[in-house]
Amino acid sequence: MVTIENLSVEYEDGTFALRAINLKVHDGDSIAILGENGAGKTTLFYTMLGLLKISDGKILVNDIELSSPTLKEIRSQIGLVFQNPDDQLFMPTVEEDIAFGLRNYGKSEEEINKKIRDIAERLGIVHLLKKAPYKLSGGEKRLAALATVLAMEPQAILFDEPSSFLDPRSRRTVINLLKEIRDTKMIATHDIDLAWELCDRAIILSKGEVVAEGSIEEILKNENLLMKYGFELTTRSQTDRRF
Ligand SMILES: Nc1ncnc2c1ncn2[C@@H]1O[C@H](COP(=O)(O)OP(=O)(O)O)[C@@H](O)[C@H]1O
Ligand SMILES: [Mg+2]
Repeated sequence: MVTIENLSVEYEDGTFALRAINLKVHDGDSIAILGENGAGKTTLFYTMLGLLKISDGKILVNDIELSSPTLKEIRSQIGLVFQNPDDQLFMPTVEEDIAFGLRNYGKSEEEINKKIRDIAERLGIVHLLKKAPYKLSGGEKRLAALATVLAMEPQAILFDEPSSFLDPRSRRTVINLLKEIRDTKMIATHDIDLAWELCDRAIILSKGEVVAEGSIEEILKNENLLMKYGFELTTRSQTDRRF
């Protein structure tokens, strides 16, 4: 579904955030993008949505190459749940945030209202619809941000550190909801337990390069590899992963 070929991204100040990345994402895949802070995870997602300029290489989504003329079409097929929900929620109410993207794509008010209702019920946030996003808790904001993306029904969803800023209970709610999402997923995280639960493949990014790639088991059972790239191995995750 998504093909990334030889992708390099250099920021204006000369920082090379991605170097010659190659990745194929198939329909229904759930891929963990693992890497320390500064590895290039967010850069990869922003570039896939055309928010950052490609320096070299290309990105194809369903055989359509990402470029300015195809941007709108590609953004209808790929959704991004930002690391910080405050970057995603900017309308006076949650309901209006969910409606925003749908309006942009010319949906009727009737369709929009139905969609808002369906998504809110699915995520258990009906009671938050009329609230101002800035008044929500961290976990509630994350669900509201997820709702704005799910409403667009993209084929693939990119999640940028979905468990960051969450307490254990909200983290569990988010993981359980993500498990139910059958769409193609790419999940940037350094939460290896989350990756283990949700993903079937993984790549490790380090300093903008893919340094390892394989099934989730191959990657997460390789303790030396994980240690080398700065992952904390929890006792629980180690025990879970042995069986
Ligand atoms: N706007 C920017 N200008 C220059 N360098 C940036 C910018 N944003 C990120 N970087 C750099 O690009 C690299 C990758 O960052 P990022 O993609 O945010 O990593 P991650 O999401 O894995 O933590 C880092 O070295 C970071 O400092
Ligand atoms: Mg990031």
